[in-house]
Amino acid sequence: MKVRVLHDYEALSLAAAGEVAAAVRERPDAVLLLPTGSTPLGMYRRLVEMHRRSGLSFSRTTFFNLDEYLGLPPDHPASYRTYMLKNLYSLIDADPDRIHFPDGTAPDPEAACERYETAIREAGGADLCVLGIGRNGHIGFNEPGAPFDSRTRVVRLAESTRRVNASDFPSGRVPERAITAGMATIFESRRILLLASGADKARAVAAAVEGPVSETVPASILQRHPDATLLLDQEAASGL
Ligand code: GLP
Repeated sequence: MKVRVLHDYEALSLAAAGEVAAAVRERPDAVLLLPTGSTPLGMYRRLVEMHRRSGLSFSRTTFFNLDEYLGLPPDHPASYRTYMLKNLYSLIDADPDRIHFPDGTAPDPEAACERYETAIREAGGADLCVLGIGRNGHIGFNEPGAPFDSRTRVVRLAESTRRVNASDFPSGRVPERAITAGMATIFESRRILLLASGADKARAVAAAVEGPVSETVPASILQRHPDATLLLDQEAASGL
């Protein structure tokens, strides 16, 4: 696992966008597994700029999202589908047929998870997976204790995660469950980038990088990955 410390959030976002752009330039039909949250917003902004200014094209790229809340209508303002359309897909030349989300409103969520896992596999697996990290070390919505051999499935969110994400739900009704790509699904990506910014991530980052590889700290699995890079700003790296 490589660790790169950037000066601040802007530098981190630029570096992350550069990595994604390089993957897409090298392989225009690359398969990407992408995160939501506040951390990747700067990266998405930079990618949109690269598309507009330097003609970076995503027309042959296949996109999968890491996770989605269970039970939220797809056009709900806090759904991850809404987030991705607003911050990336509607602003670039993405092919709608190549954009995939876990189906949070499927009548049979377990079957939807299986379909999603199959779709990732049939696309050839992810060439590049970009991750954020939760304050408790979660990746996607794989909370502490998520089995390393898990696949796309329905999960119950940690109370601490629901509290942090509550600001996206003015109604106060934060979903209790979500669909997430599993730990094994993520781990099988050929390259993984994890982004972390800010002092409130420092403990989780230190545990992921320097602690034992353990299901208690989901992001620690990256220590075992042959091509994983952590992009950190100085604050997120302050516990190392
Ligand atoms: C959410 C998402 C994760 C994300 C994490 C951190 O729970 N499911 O994929 O990495 O929060 O979010 P943020 O970047 O806003 O701190």
